[in-house]
Amino acid sequence: MINNSVIILSLVVLCNYCISGKTTCSRKPVEEWSPQPSSYVVNWTLTENICMNFYKDCWDFSINPKMGTSDDHIVPQICPLQIQVGDVLVISSEPSLQPPEINVMNVSEASFIDCVQNTTPEDQLLFGCRLKGKHTVNSQWLSAGTHYFITVVASGPSLCQLGLRLNVTVKQQFCQESLSSEFCSGHGKCLSKVWDKTYRCHCQPPFSGKYCQELDACSSKPCKNNGSCINYGGKWNKQGYECICHPPFTGSDCSEVIGQCEPNICFHGNCSNITAHSFICECDEHFSGK
Ligand SMILES: *[C@@H]1O[C@H](CO)[C@@H](O)[C@H](O)[C@H]1NC(C)=O
Ligand SMILES: *[C@@H]1O[C@H](CO)[C@@H](O)[C@H](O)[C@H]1NC(C)=O
Ligand SMILES: *[C@@H]1O[C@H](CO)[C@@H](O)[C@H](O)[C@H]1NC(C)=O
Ligand SMILES: *[C@@H]1O[C@H](CO)[C@@H](O)[C@H](O)[C@H]1NC(C)=O
Ligand SMILES: *[C@@H]1O[C@H](CO)[C@@H](O)[C@H](O)[C@H]1NC(C)=O
Ligand SMILES: *[C@@H]1O[C@H](CO)[C@@H](O)[C@H](O)[C@H]1NC(C)=O
Repeated sequence: MINNSVIILSLVVLCNYCISGKTTCSRKPVEEWSPQPSSYVVNWTLTENICMNFYKDCWDFSINPKMGTSDDHIVPQICPLQIQVGDVLVISSEPSLQPPEINVMNVSEASFIDCVQNTTPEDQLLFGCRLKGKHTVNSQWLSAGTHYFITVVASGPSLCQLGLRLNVTVKQQFCQESLSSEFCSGHGKCLSKVWDKTYRCHCQPPFSGKYCQELDACSSKPCKNNGSCINYGGKWNKQGYECICHPPFTGSDCSEVIGQCEPNICFHGNCSNITAHSFICECDEHFSGK
């Protein structure tokens, strides 16, 4: 709470950078992998897109009920970003931020929360010169995983404490068996929920497996008369399953009865509606009789 009031006080004092941009970050609960890389521009400014409360504003907590907590957890920051490996991130500074010499630094999670900058070496600065205009973030800073970027200033107010810091989570996909294969074998979607660390296949039944490459041939319940179905996922035979029948049933789908429906028992017709003790002959046209 003390932290909270200190921050609020600093906000009032430093009202030339006022948080008119306080916001609730919008995001989709589930994202589908995009085969084409996207480009994101983050405005490095306090006038828009700054969220305050970790649970309520930064991560729309209503779509993450598992994260349930009533605690306020105030970490003013630019709306956290979730992107894909290979996406392009551009940081765009605002003219009013020009006077102080500012740069952006890669830090650990703890340093992100506390806005500690002095212990981290020079080589953690994202840009070779101070922030001015648009800068593309080199891909070395955007490997798969979560990255924390804070504002460093030569002197003056801690712009980081006020919210000029960014949490970027870069996600990989595990939806292709090989680089050339179809996503989820064409039988599912490559998805990631907000708190997932990666994209994975969500298969359409009857397909399953890491890449939706397996077929559950038993899902259509092909074995009649309470026979058990063994799924071979297409590897066994064309059907992909085998029926284990209870006597007296037999046949590939347990619809035949041992001894009944012997070849030609129905002279001109088909044997059907088989149960343990009966069957009927479906007669061909022009024929009749049992
Ligand atoms: C960033 O600023 C530009 C111009 O100032 C604006 O058009 C754009 O919508 C802003 N982007 C975001 C993500 O707020
Ligand atoms: C960014 O900072 C983290 C935490 O200090 C560190 O583990 C990581 O190696 C840094 N990334 C690069 C590319 O130096
Ligand atoms: C950063 O974002 C990730 C999700 O992308 C989240 O799990 C993590 O808690 C966030 N870290 C902080 C310090 O806000
Ligand atoms: C079907 O088979 C299961 C076990 O294989 C058995 O428990 C069940 O009673 C059988 N149901 C019928 C209708 O025969
Ligand atoms: C075969 O059985 C089904 C259901 O048990 C019944 O609806 C159908 O009429 C029967 N067919 C004949 C030809 O009796
Ligand atoms: C008997 O089965 C054959 C082949 O499945 C089919 O062509 C024919 O129409 C059937 N006859 C009757 C009476 O259902």
